[in-house]
Amino acid sequence: MNLTVRPRRARRTPAVRRLFAETHLDPAQLVLPLFVREGLDEPRPIASMPGVVHHTVDTLRRTVAEAAGLGVGGVMLYGVPEAKDATGSGATDPHGILNVATRAVAEEVGDAVVVQTDLCLDEFTDHGHCGVLAADGSVDNDRTLLRYGEMALAQAEAGSAMLGLSGMMDGQVAAVREVLDTAGHSDVLLLAYSAKYASAFYGPFRDAVESTLTGDRRTYQVDPANRREGRREAVLDVEQGADVVMVKPAGPYLDVLADVAATSPVPVWAYQVSGEYAMVEAAAANGWIDRDRAIMESVLGIRRAGADAVLTYWAAEIAGWLRA
Ligand code: PBG
Repeated sequence: MNLTVRPRRARRTPAVRRLFAETHLDPAQLVLPLFVREGLDEPRPIASMPGVVHHTVDTLRRTVAEAAGLGVGGVMLYGVPEAKDATGSGATDPHGILNVATRAVAEEVGDAVVVQTDLCLDEFTDHGHCGVLAADGSVDNDRTLLRYGEMALAQAEAGSAMLGLSGMMDGQVAAVREVLDTAGHSDVLLLAYSAKYASAFYGPFRDAVESTLTGDRRTYQVDPANRREGRREAVLDVEQGADVVMVKPAGPYLDVLADVAATSPVPVWAYQVSGEYAMVEAAAANGWIDRDRAIMESVLGIRRAGADAVLTYWAAEIAGWLRA
């Protein structure tokens, strides 16, 4: 045998593999999504997301402090209100659950971890759509932008450092940026859920926010068939002033992620969504997969494809492993 090229040399020992690793994971690159539910006395498990709970304001505050202690880069807060209505009033009410919880969390952790909030109406509307509806039942883009502006102000005033614009309305980044800047909140960061696909993998999340949606979000979220369109959405959001653009879901859209990461002038994040989480947990619970290895491999793959940071429900657990 006269083989001079032997790639296996670089795989022989753990030390060599470590030195040759192209991608690394660090707790600072992980963002933990968390749910807070109005009217709870104690945390309540979410059936379709084993290990994830609805928090009370108090347990949320403690969980965020723990995550900060583990070095997690950020937390993303979702509120589940007791009552929903057509315009999602709870989203803009300073006493609404998400704003109350944000205030409590920001007070507890200050700037030790980046406190982020979901800026979307679907958790708060009785019809479950991400915006307000026109008379014909369609989602009214421009009237929704006005509601997003109001929501942005309420969240900034509650102490959110970064707003996650997940509603997929046209022009939402520019609209929110303008409202914030006019009100003196030019320091608040904007995370644009840019290439957000109309995905079946949000199923468990919709249970988690007690979504009343009938139908789907295909008139505003991107068609899973489209790669170029995902890139275009990211370009538009950068033009409108997004500080970070995101691809979501992560695992099934690594091509889009790699495309966006190749040319983006701002950081690119990816969201490993509820369905991606639930699949691994369910397979592991059945003994069909090595849970911890599958978790690490799935998140590493998202980083390798180009994500600077990853939103994942395993963020705190992974951070704990990385520190051990
Ligand atoms: C919208 C929003 C959704 C998710 C995050 N923000 C749901 C949707 O678009 O239906 C999904 C996250 C997940 O599945 O983990 N507020």
